[in-house]
Amino acid sequence: MTEPAIRVSDVSKVFTTPFRRRRIVALQHLNLEIAPGEIYGLLGPNGSGKSTTLKIILGLIEPTRGSVRIFGRDHSAVGVRRDIGFLPENAYFHKFLTGAETLRFHAKLSGLSGRETKSRIAELLATVGLARAGDARLSTYSKGMLQRIGLAQALIHHPKILVLDEPTAAIDPAGSRDIQNLIVSLKERGTTILLSSHLLTQVQEVCDRVGILHRGKLLREGHLEDLLAIENQTEFIVENATPDFLDGLEQQIASTNARVVRRKPQTSLEQFFLKVTETSDE
Ligand SMILES: Nc1ncnc2c1ncn2[C@@H]1O[C@H](COP(=O)(O)OP(=O)(O)OP(=O)(O)O)[C@@H](O)[C@H]1O
Ligand SMILES: [Mg+2]
Repeated sequence: MTEPAIRVSDVSKVFTTPFRRRRIVALQHLNLEIAPGEIYGLLGPNGSGKSTTLKIILGLIEPTRGSVRIFGRDHSAVGVRRDIGFLPENAYFHKFLTGAETLRFHAKLSGLSGRETKSRIAELLATVGLARAGDARLSTYSKGMLQRIGLAQALIHHPKILVLDEPTAAIDPAGSRDIQNLIVSLKERGTTILLSSHLLTQVQEVCDRVGILHRGKLLREGHLEDLLAIENQTEFIVENATPDFLDGLEQQIASTNARVVRRKPQTSLEQFFLKVTETSDE
């Protein structure tokens, strides 16, 4: 069996606020396994623990208990983080740098050679659709452009795993569509992608699997098709069937105990999410 790209085992995180007056339980016994090449979406409302999970995976904060493995190695082992690219929630950028300079800065941090850097920057600017904006300062960039340069920065060292915290938040539909397409094209090249989002409809389209996080607990997890399927209902998508055939089929169904429901028997991720989180509040 191949090792998962990311394995989070029984991770809990308790934050203690200054002077230890308050304990905030951010994560409780979290288990996640993300296969190589998979796109996994971590969904949850504000404060549910999404960013905390991502930061623990990246080794930016220590879990109170539990462990994280990246391709079978402890995430704190030497060299492991080189496999990961990260787009933080509120990526901080030097506004006075141009897009190309920003990427050059990160290329240097990642130890890319001078020759490699030049071609890599041009390639990445083109990949994220900023080829013509590479020489403009970030202070002139729109939110969508900043998000795209953030993605380019996360990709600079050819990471095997890409961790994206709210990659399409605060971006208009066209901009987020671009980012979704980019995510899918990275998957096609074999990159494993873990993203967090509260924009459910966007996640629905790109993720192979999703997990629903609520108050630090993973409430449900699975393939979207399975999570959204409605029990006891079957959907056929039929092309080019004649009206006679369909009438006959309907009569045949009606002659049993079954019933034809003239609705697409899938719930939306939005509704599913609300249902799951509401019942856990009871
Ligand atoms: N450094 C910290 N110190 C204390 N509490 C923290 C810290 N970071 C996060 N928390 C708390 O942990 C919980 C989970 O926060 P987290 O940022 O992981 O949520 P999130 O799902 O990413 O939310 P959002 O959708 O708003 O980004 C929240 O209650 C938050 O207040
Ligand atoms: Mg967050």
